[in-house]
Amino acid sequence: MDLTIRPIKESEFDIFRSKLVRVFGGDIHKEDDPKHLRSILDPARTVCAFDGNDLVGTCAAFTFDLTVPGSTLAMGGTTMVTVQPTHRRRGILKAMMQAHLKEMKDRGEPLAGLWASESSIYGRFGYGYAVEGSFIKIDAKELIFTNNTQKGSVNLIEADDAAKIFPDIYEHIRQTRPGVLSRSKAWWDVRVFRDPQHRREGKSAKRFVIYKENSQPLGYAIYRQKVNWEWAEFPKSHIYVVEVIAATDEAHLAIWKFLTNIDLFPMVQYWNAPVDDPLMWRINDPRRIQRYNTDSLWIRIIDIKAALEGRSYSSQGRLVFDIHDEFMPANSGKYELTTNSSEAQCKPTSTEADITLSATSLGALYLGGNRFTTLANAGLVQGTPEALAMADKMFAWTCAPWCPEVF
Ligand SMILES: CC(C)(COP(=O)(O)OP(=O)(O)OC[C@H]1O[C@@H](n2cnc3c(N)ncnc32)[C@H](O)[C@@H]1OP(=O)(O)O)[C@@H](O)C(=O)NCCC(=O)NCCS
Repeated sequence: MDLTIRPIKESEFDIFRSKLVRVFGGDIHKEDDPKHLRSILDPARTVCAFDGNDLVGTCAAFTFDLTVPGSTLAMGGTTMVTVQPTHRRRGILKAMMQAHLKEMKDRGEPLAGLWASESSIYGRFGYGYAVEGSFIKIDAKELIFTNNTQKGSVNLIEADDAAKIFPDIYEHIRQTRPGVLSRSKAWWDVRVFRDPQHRREGKSAKRFVIYKENSQPLGYAIYRQKVNWEWAEFPKSHIYVVEVIAATDEAHLAIWKFLTNIDLFPMVQYWNAPVDDPLMWRINDPRRIQRYNTDSLWIRIIDIKAALEGRSYSSQGRLVFDIHDEFMPANSGKYELTTNSSEAQCKPTSTEADITLSATSLGALYLGGNRFTTLANAGLVQGTPEALAMADKMFAWTCAPWCPEVF
């Protein structure tokens, strides 16, 4: 094997697309104009593997800002990772990941993030399981909400109108919820509003619903319908929720009442609700909502000082972390983190460590979605009970992290 790792050239964009979709079992459809992907992906941000002239591995980064507790930080979104089945398990992914993380470091991105096709792949590269999403299924036929007031109104609108209104509402929640990603105009167009038939999996086109109070848009939902209709049986057709974004509690209540009260469509599913979504607390029979949680966003800390100084903390304190980073060894070492109500400082130190952990564990803990004590119980983090409790208090945040979309 004559391996070269490099970005693709503009002229290689089509072969990049077709090689990568094949690994995931798909094909390029005629509706999939390359300009769609090109508008959100810069070929300079690809890191691909060539065996001679043959493209055998793909990897790329989207350019995002990630909301972290109290702030936002630049994050490279690891994506489109494939190795052709003819070339698997020869170290190509490992070689691409080395170049990919270096590219992010050189750009000054303190964080990398990804959604994993298989949860066994990325821990070795320092990505930690940082965010969970909740898959919820509701049999809404007899759902009773405990609060029946509704201040505003819910209306269905067309995609063109939604495109003018939804981004502002999304921006509002993006500021406050760790794990949420920035969306460029191109991202909204290509990933949210563009809705080709072959991506619908037998469901309807996307429906767009808006909640307003006094003409002010405060929340929205995107969903699809799927008819499941047997003659002379009770209705059991489905609503598949794509996204619910609510800037206020009233908007959240009104949108969920709407989604669970559509005639003929009593079966409601949401593939990725926040794990702390208040919906189950709004109904008188919480078992009507079945839930299971699974990993969504994995975080890899590229620049430890910038990442630890770049977020806010829930309490003041001082801790020394001894961090072991096998895949980016220059990151390994002891770091002293000092936090107060307005800022955090992180600096290398030679003093005794309070907590010892891997870069992967730090990624898992960074957004406040997991507890140091839990990872210590699993043998992944070492520290005294007092140090672990202090770290838990410092890193905790007011809401669970949530990443609303796969990339
Ligand atoms: C996942 C994939 C990219 C791995 O590529 P690869 O070139 O075979 O991986 P490498 O040979 O560089 O393996 C590096 C290490 O990861 C391990 N590994 C690779 N794929 C793995 C998997 N699916 N599950 C668990 N471990 C895996 C290897 O065993 C190796 O471990 P080691 O360092 O302890 O020896 C490739 O199998 C693939 O394209 N899969 C289908 C598409 C996909 O799932 N992509 C990921 C999208 S998020």
